[in-house]
Amino acid sequence: MKHLLSVADLDLDAINEIMRLTDQFVEVSERPIPRVPALRGRTVVSLFYEESTRTRLSFETAAKRLSADTMNFSVSTSSAKKGESLRDTVQTIEAMGVDVIVVRHSSAGVPWQVASWVDAAVVNAGDGEHEHPTQALLDCYTIRQQRGTLEGLRIAIVGDVGHSRVARSDVHAFTTMGADVTLVAPPTLLPASLEGWPVAVSNDLDDVLPKTDVVYLLRMQLERQREALLPSLREYTARYGLTRDRARLLADDAVVMHPGPMNRGVEIAAEVANRPNSVITKQVANGVAVRMGVLFLLAGANPREPAAGDANG
Ligand code: NCD
Repeated sequence: MKHLLSVADLDLDAINEIMRLTDQFVEVSERPIPRVPALRGRTVVSLFYEESTRTRLSFETAAKRLSADTMNFSVSTSSAKKGESLRDTVQTIEAMGVDVIVVRHSSAGVPWQVASWVDAAVVNAGDGEHEHPTQALLDCYTIRQQRGTLEGLRIAIVGDVGHSRVARSDVHAFTTMGADVTLVAPPTLLPASLEGWPVAVSNDLDDVLPKTDVVYLLRMQLERQREALLPSLREYTARYGLTRDRARLLADDAVVMHPGPMNRGVEIAAEVANRPNSVITKQVANGVAVRMGVLFLLAGANPREPAAGDANG
C-alpha cells in the first residue's frame, strides 16, 4: 500500500491486516510507556486545511508513539494565508524531507492531487464530503472489539448522510466486512443518488432501532448545508434524534456510535451518549492505534533505509 486515499482501495484482506496491526498497537498503547521505535527517523507531517480536534491529535499521537518526527501545518498561521498555492506548499514541505503527509481539506479529491505531486505517502484525513478512510477503519475496529465481527451485523447509519464523508467511507468499509447497512434519514439529507450504494434506506428510525446491532449517529453538519434542508432542528430531533425514550427501543447489547464532534441534544441525547453501550470514547482511543497501524504500513518498510524496528520493538 503506497497511500491511503479511499476505503474503496481496501479489500477485505487489507482491512483485516490493518485490524490485526491495530491489535498490536492497542497493546502498545496500554503499556506504561506507550512507544515503539518502529518509525524512528521518519517524518510525518499533518497538513490540515480544515478544522479538526480528534483526527489531528490522533495522527500526531500515533506518529509520536511510533517514534516518528512530526510537523504540523496549520493554514491559519502559514503562508497559505499569503496566497501560497497548495502545490507550492506541498512541495515546500516535501523539500524538508517527509515520509508521510496526512491531508485534510474541504475539497473532495485534494489528497489524490497531493499524492500525484510527491514521493511521500499520503493519507486522506477527510476530503470535503467525500471520504474519511481512517475514521471508517477505527469504526470497524471498534465494532469488531464490541461484537467480535462485523459479518452479518445490522448497522444503521442515521442522519446527515448527504454531507458526510464518514458515512461514505463507513458504508464501504462496513459492507466489505460483511455487515448489512441501513441509512436512516429524511430524504433531504440523503445523497442525490444512492446508485451503487450497497444499502437499504429507511425514514423510520423507530422501526429500524429494534432490529439494529449498531446505531451510528452522524453529526448534523449545518456548516455544509447551503440551503434549508430541515423544517427545524427540533423537528429533526423529534423524528431522527436518538433521544432517551427512543434508545429504549434498542436491544440491550446494541452499540451506539458517533464520530464526534457531537451535537448533544440534536442527533443524540446527552444521557444516551453516556450510556454503557455507547462506545464514542472507545472510538477515539482506537483511532490512535488504527492510525499507528496505517502509518506503520505506509512508512514502516521504507526502501530508502533498512527497517528501523517492528511493531513489537
Ligand atoms: C468528522 C469529520 O470531520 O469528518 N469528525 C471526525 O473526523 N471524527 C465528522 C464530522 O465532522 O461530523
